[in-house]
Amino acid sequence: MDRMFRKLLVSALVIAGAANAAANVCNETITATTQADLDNLSGCTTFGANIILAETLTTATLSGIQTISGNLICNNNTQITSISAPNLQTIGGKFELKQLTILNTLSFPRLTTVGAINWVTLPAVSGLSFTAGVSSCDDVYISDTDLSTLDGINLTTVSSLDINNNLNLNDIEMGLTEATYQVAISFNGETQVSFPSLKWAYNLTFHDISSISTPILSVVNASYLLISNVFESFSAPNLTTVGGLSIEDNQDLTSISFPKLTTIGGAGLEVSNNSMLENFSGFPKLTTVNGAIILEGNFTNATFPSLTLVRGAVNIDSSEDFDCSPFNTLDSKGGIRGNDYRCEAASTTTSVAISSTAAPSSRATGSAVTTASGTASATSAATSSSAASPNLVVSTSGFTLSALLAAVFFGIF
Ligand SMILES: *[C@@H]1O[C@H](CO)[C@@H](O)[C@H](O)[C@H]1NC(C)=O
Ligand SMILES: *[C@@H]1O[C@H](CO)[C@@H](O)[C@H](O)[C@H]1NC(C)=O
Ligand SMILES: *[C@@H]1O[C@H](CO)[C@@H](O)[C@H](O)[C@H]1NC(C)=O
Ligand SMILES: *[C@@H]1O[C@H](CO)[C@@H](O)[C@H](O)[C@H]1NC(C)=O
Ligand SMILES: *[C@@H]1O[C@H](CO)[C@@H](O)[C@H](O)[C@H]1NC(C)=O
Ligand SMILES: *[C@@H]1O[C@H](CO)[C@@H](O)[C@H](O)[C@H]1NC(C)=O
Ligand SMILES: *[C@@H]1O[C@H](CO)[C@@H](O)[C@H](O)[C@H]1NC(C)=O
Ligand SMILES: *[C@@H]1O[C@H](CO)[C@@H](O)[C@H](O)[C@H]1NC(C)=O
Ligand SMILES: *[C@@H]1O[C@H](CO)[C@@H](O)[C@H](O)[C@H]1NC(C)=O
Ligand SMILES: *[C@@H]1O[C@H](CO)[C@@H](O)[C@H](O)[C@H]1NC(C)=O
Ligand SMILES: *[C@@H]1O[C@H](CO)[C@@H](O)[C@H](O)[C@H]1NC(C)=O
Repeated sequence: MDRMFRKLLVSALVIAGAANAAANVCNETITATTQADLDNLSGCTTFGANIILAETLTTATLSGIQTISGNLICNNNTQITSISAPNLQTIGGKFELKQLTILNTLSFPRLTTVGAINWVTLPAVSGLSFTAGVSSCDDVYISDTDLSTLDGINLTTVSSLDINNNLNLNDIEMGLTEATYQVAISFNGETQVSFPSLKWAYNLTFHDISSISTPILSVVNASYLLISNVFESFSAPNLTTVGGLSIEDNQDLTSISFPKLTTIGGAGLEVSNNSMLENFSGFPKLTTVNGAIILEGNFTNATFPSLTLVRGAVNIDSSEDFDCSPFNTLDSKGGIRGNDYRCEAASTTTSVAISSTAAPSSRATGSAVTTASGTASATSAATSSSAASPNLVVSTSGFTLSALLAAVFFGIF
């Protein structure tokens, strides 16, 4: 009896030990150096730790595993060509692939959920075999791959989507509805970007884009940067509020359209160095800018018909013929609260002929270069008039007259 009991106890312990060993195999971080190491994990439906694929692997297949609670990482491997996981549905942590110079196959047909994607320098990865498609991932960073689309990743919400330096990436289309931290699409070659469902994003940055479609986007909480893009026209048809808007160095841009934009926040408005953007009347409803306005470039016409309040400074500098009078008027009505208002143009519409006779190659004479620093505190601006300051003229005709008088004055002496 006693012997029998002891035997039973021993076998029970052996079984328990085996089960425990199996549980540990499935719950301990592994650095796999061979495919055999990965095959050992095939009984783990859920793998409770991190899997690191070592630099010695040339291919890697994770069979059986459906969930990795931790990270799946493969870095600095110059000989691996393929990574596949036929059953894997979830990576709870990060899916990190860095510096894999000849990797060309990423086969994850059932993968739908990933904590974070961090892929950097995968120059041979030109497509994803993600049949189900990743639909949930909080943080995506993809840089320096050969991907031509992001097909296989289609998220509805994201904290950060940062896609940069993928030189063949010519198309990004995603059902994103909101981005709680940022969307930044930069330096990927001339990518077409379409976010048909995007309602709001905390921060948006687009560089080097050939077209952007955000038909229902209504709010960008922080800043919206459009820099060095190659589209000819830009439209944000449903955007009502933005924390700050910068449109810089878009060399082909000829028209911008923000038909519903009423408010720009404290980060202000900057439209600068868009050499083909000669006229912009894209802000018909803009009434309030809670920061500064900077306009710089060779534009001839910039109209803001609804603008009544700028809480920051206004700094306008056109290398062409530009009429400052609407801004002078705004300033004289106390609409510019910042402590600096400056509007400079090579000449103004109303004094072109005068400049060319009186001061041919210089910036225009006194009245054409309108500088009104220090006059813009709410009270002093409210009480200033064209009589108090010749540069702050209320009406276009008054402005024309003073420009004329100044030019005649300088011409005579
Ligand atoms: C995989 O299993 C084999 C045989 O059971 C064992 O020799 C090897 O150490 C295991 N590898 C790992 C990484 O656990
Ligand atoms: C293994 O990890 C899973 C998930 O983290 C956990 O539920 C389970 O209790 C762990 N098992 C053991 C034996 O540690
Ligand atoms: C890759 O290897 C280099 C040199 O050994 C090292 O400096 C770098 O940190 C490694 N990168 C990653 C992502 O592990
Ligand atoms: C992305 O998913 C949305 C639904 O969330 C779907 O309407 C859209 O067609 C998908 N886009 C792509 C490119 O797969
Ligand atoms: C918005 O994104 C830009 C560019 O990535 C960055 O410089 C800026 O700090 C971000 N703003 C906020 C408020 O996070
Ligand atoms: C535009 O945005 C508003 C929210 O500001 C939303 O209610 C409306 O549905 C959007 N318009 C379109 C065409 O989606
Ligand atoms: C950004 O704006 C959206 C839409 O108005 C709002 O739901 C969200 O709470 C705002 N996020 C932050 C961080 O202010
Ligand atoms: C516009 O371009 C000029 C000349 O290249 C440069 O000096 C200036 O800093 C640029 N302005 C902005 C706001 O980028
Ligand atoms: C602005 O500069 C561009 C490029 O130099 C030029 O093609 C365009 O005619 C200029 N526009 C005006 C109004 O001078
Ligand atoms: C800008 O407007 C003026 C006057 O309306 C027009 O003659 C000129 O062609 C416009 N320039 C562009 C580039 O649309
Ligand atoms: C400036 O543009 C506005 C709106 O398009 C237009 O009404 C106005 O005539 C233009 N002014 C000049 C000088 O081209």
